[in-house]
Amino acid sequence: MSKKNLESKENKLRGKPIVLEFGSAFTRIGFSSEDAPRIVKPTIVGYNDVVSKNDNLTSILTETNKQAFVGIAAIEKRKELEIVYPIKNRKINDMQALKVMIQYAIERDLSITPDLHAAIVILPYPISEEEKEEITKMLLDDLNFPGVYVSSSENMPLYSIGRTTGIVVDSGYEKTDIIPILDGKIITKAVKSLNIGGYHVTNKLRESLREQDFTYTDEEDKFFGAARNIKENLCYVALNADKEIELASKVSGMRKIHKLPNGEKYIVELQRFLATEILFQPEMIDLKEKPLHEQIIDSIQSCDTKNQSSLWSNIVIAGGNSILPGYHARLNHELKSLAPENEDVRIYSTPSNTSFSSWIGASILSSRMEFSKHWITKK
Ligand SMILES: Nc1ncnc2c1ncn2[C@@H]1O[C@H](COP(=O)(O)OP(=O)(O)OP(=O)(O)O)[C@@H](O)[C@H]1O
Ligand SMILES: [Mg+2]
Repeated sequence: MSKKNLESKENKLRGKPIVLEFGSAFTRIGFSSEDAPRIVKPTIVGYNDVVSKNDNLTSILTETNKQAFVGIAAIEKRKELEIVYPIKNRKINDMQALKVMIQYAIERDLSITPDLHAAIVILPYPISEEEKEEITKMLLDDLNFPGVYVSSSENMPLYSIGRTTGIVVDSGYEKTDIIPILDGKIITKAVKSLNIGGYHVTNKLRESLREQDFTYTDEEDKFFGAARNIKENLCYVALNADKEIELASKVSGMRKIHKLPNGEKYIVELQRFLATEILFQPEMIDLKEKPLHEQIIDSIQSCDTKNQSSLWSNIVIAGGNSILPGYHARLNHELKSLAPENEDVRIYSTPSNTSFSSWIGASILSSRMEFSKHWITKK
């Protein structure tokens, strides 16, 4: 890109709201109205009491004069650092670490001057009014943003596909939340939750790899371990697990050898779909919860009868698990076989088929003209 083009691009971005979406595992950072986040990084902060000048460019200084590393840099140095997870299991775990992540986004990831940009900050559903207020105050008073909007994530996947009514099925790191929404309002009594997320799928795969001298720790696997790598490259959801097992005994194509960037090799076959099967058969990991599809049905059926059809036809899948090949088709198959005959079951995902739909929804929301009245500014 020429210098002139670059300057004009930067000028256009001046003042553009920034969009920060925090998940239990990943944080997505970028600018309003853009199609995708510019940066996706693990939601993790590592503190060092001793400030090393060599690390100045990959760290920031906290108010208490500690050196703070964020994302991959924190993971790589984790043995020397005090590690803190700002969000755990969809709850704010450490407000100070969340602030460090935001500060790092301003100073290092986006290199912006906060007083020229509004900020929309999205956190996992649900957050309390007190938490919302505390974050709003922190953004306005401590971090100097001129306008801010803090919200939980539930509506964002709907906005990402231009809707305000639907049932959001967000399958993230440790949980899958099922949230029916009518005209932007949550039907709280019908919210359901399954304690299975991408972590459990990785874990199930990891157990089956132990026989192959698999040595990664839980911590390593969370963000860059072999099981996660294999899962994201080779795992899928079968339409029918029993038939898939039968097929595997007849054809050889399902057996794959996966080579990691470090040269290690692993063989996977049935694990490719048995690890993900736990979402539809939680008893496989000794969980006494109802499977995903049954919870979606329970959720829809606990809403008023007059609203059920608009939920059946607006099922919006989101989160990292939703991009597993076959997930959409399996859910469709299970729901169609159990839904009342007159209902039109329709499942939607973000067009780009990424795990960024909450970020994309926030990017769209904050770029709309009529949204300007929602920015909270300093009194
Ligand atoms: N291509 C992929 N295939 C399968 N799983 C994936 C893929 N990409 C990401 N994931 C999984 O998605 C999970 C993280 O999902 P997501 O990014 O939605 O979580 P989060 O928003 O950080 O957390 P949460 O919403 O639960 O607070 C991880 O377990 C990761 O391995
Ligand atoms: Mg999420």
